[in-house]
Amino acid sequence: MTTRKIQQIIDSVPASDGAGVRLRRSLGAADHGSLPMRADPFLMLDEFSSENPDDYVAGFPSHPHRGFETVTYLLDGHMLHEDHLGNRGDLKSGGVQWMTAGRGIIHSEMPQQENGRMRGFQLWINLPAKEKMRPAGYRDIQPSEIPAVALAGGGRAKVVAGTLNGTAGPIQGGSTDPIYWDIELPSNGFFSQEIKDHKTVYIYPFEGSVEIADRALKTHQGAVLGSGDRVEITAAADGARFLLLAAQPLQEPVVQYGPFVMNTRAEIEQAIRDYQNGVLAV
Ligand code: CO
Repeated sequence: MTTRKIQQIIDSVPASDGAGVRLRRSLGAADHGSLPMRADPFLMLDEFSSENPDDYVAGFPSHPHRGFETVTYLLDGHMLHEDHLGNRGDLKSGGVQWMTAGRGIIHSEMPQQENGRMRGFQLWINLPAKEKMRPAGYRDIQPSEIPAVALAGGGRAKVVAGTLNGTAGPIQGGSTDPIYWDIELPSNGFFSQEIKDHKTVYIYPFEGSVEIADRALKTHQGAVLGSGDRVEITAAADGARFLLLAAQPLQEPVVQYGPFVMNTRAEIEQAIRDYQNGVLAV
């Protein structure tokens, strides 16, 4: 077995999206240079966390997506999503919305609270060319559907996608076969898990800090791990909580224009035309 090392650290940067929601973006941020940082098939990871309603209350009014999946994991707060087809879903603390935009969705994601803490993540996972134009679909996952696993080295993991120590999360398989774990470790706690070498692995501590193969990773810093078939993570003295994301890379060209992610420039132009003509998602 080879233990994976950190290949690249991606600092999250303050960003604003929707109608002015303040967030921290690591994957997908363009501030790092001319091209956004991605870790195939992961396109973007946003963390939002605030107790100030001015930072979130404007939400994400009606906007389109085509060509990928969005995964919203709400740790604290209450969010309502509605799409142009009349689908409606309530996202409460601890819940997940797994949306496959496919050929198109036009939706809004609006906070249903005017005070208190709003905290969570939105991850964008790319779809392969053959699935970019599939019909849109949703999974609204209730907190009770997300199993928690006690870890041998202390702490616990919530399993949103993939299987950990025999415990299966509600999302299984698919072309990128994603793993989405929320892992909490006590002071100096140790996490060790086999993850097949062909998968991209991304680690994002959002409380405390960790060490991976003797290299420190601070709060709000993401890390793309290098090749290997085992992931070993040690929490710092103050403990840590982090996302462990892994998935099968697509190795296809990525052409992105805002909320449209396709393989070619022509497909992006088509998406813009379809949106303008009101046929993005029909
Ligand atoms: Co959206």
